[in-house]
Amino acid sequence: MFPALHALKPYPMAQLQARKAALAKAGIPIIDFGIGDPVEPTPAFIPEALKAAVPEVSQYPSVAGTPALRRAVAGYLQRRFAVAVDPDTQVLPSAGSKEAIFHLALAVLDPTTGRDGVVFGTPGYPVYESSALFAGGRAVPVVLERDRGFRLDLAALPAAELDRTAIAWINYPHNPTGACVDRGYLRAQADCAAAHGILLASDECYQDLWFADEPPPSLLQERTAGVLAFHSCSKRSGMTGYRSGFIAGDAALIARLRGWRAHFGVGSPAFVEAAGAAAWADDGHAADRRRIFAAKWAVLAEGLRARGIEVLPSSAGLYLWARVPDGDADAYAARCLERGIVISPGGFFGAGGDGWFRLALVPAVDQCRSAVATWP
Ligand SMILES: Cc1ncc(COP(=O)(O)O)c(C=O)c1O
Repeated sequence: MFPALHALKPYPMAQLQARKAALAKAGIPIIDFGIGDPVEPTPAFIPEALKAAVPEVSQYPSVAGTPALRRAVAGYLQRRFAVAVDPDTQVLPSAGSKEAIFHLALAVLDPTTGRDGVVFGTPGYPVYESSALFAGGRAVPVVLERDRGFRLDLAALPAAELDRTAIAWINYPHNPTGACVDRGYLRAQADCAAAHGILLASDECYQDLWFADEPPPSLLQERTAGVLAFHSCSKRSGMTGYRSGFIAGDAALIARLRGWRAHFGVGSPAFVEAAGAAAWADDGHAADRRRIFAAKWAVLAEGLRARGIEVLPSSAGLYLWARVPDGDADAYAARCLERGIVISPGGFFGAGGDGWFRLALVPAVDQCRSAVATWP
């Protein structure tokens, strides 16, 4: 087996699923704040677009994706961020963003020259780390500090490390803390990455789920050269099961990735891409969804704060990040579980998450109310 497989810890969300199954077996009613997999129905026009596109003859999809999907993505980037991209050369569909994130390191790391580091923040989405390990590279976790707004600041890393870094991942609105950044931050990271020959990769799957007046910016607003942004239909459009997203940015990189991704079967079915195209062409449903997540966040934040639990402010994303009252997150998660409440201990997201817990804004608003009424 590849050595990274031996070192692999169980995927944290798989652990949660197992605990939940045990509770269900014991007949305990469950309110699940664990996995970020929303339960609001997918807007009807999206499955309709999928059904209408199921062909009589089924043939292999293309890695480049359908022109209609690429055009819809370019239209979205123009409307949402005032960014102009060429749909043919600067957009590449993906089967959700997870696979695209994981695969990037395999294409970009070069262990033979020592340019083999993948920098990412902890706490953070676990796939950046596993992508580095499976590509035979070095995972370089950077602890994100609360008093620095959980911002990963590349310039604070030693120059020798930056010169060995192939990819730096940023993710704002941030999973798990809900931290957001402004364009000045994005510009500074892009400048630092360019100065050290690093590919700056921005995981932007929560960009349309904002609760405040100011929508979160995209790295693409700063530049498209030398950078890539990863977007997803999953949370924006209630399409986690469809597996549809895209990569956008540097045309030369996109061309290399397109050629490379043709070597493994990762092209999305054209009927899924038809659904994705319909989703990117519409903004109204995303606005409806973010109002629902904002309402859940507000109910939970108020309820937990009333119980003396410290909740970090957030203005976007799908999560609430709060401090464990007695410091031991695993024991606390077990206590919550006794009441049928599933939470994610902060350690699931790396060492930087110790002492905190995450709630995914998944249960309906009334379930959020019942949960805070019985919260331990
Ligand atoms: C930060 C982050 N990036 C990427 C993903 C992957 O999402 P998907 O593959 O559904 O697009 C997730 C999923 O929860 C996430 O939290």
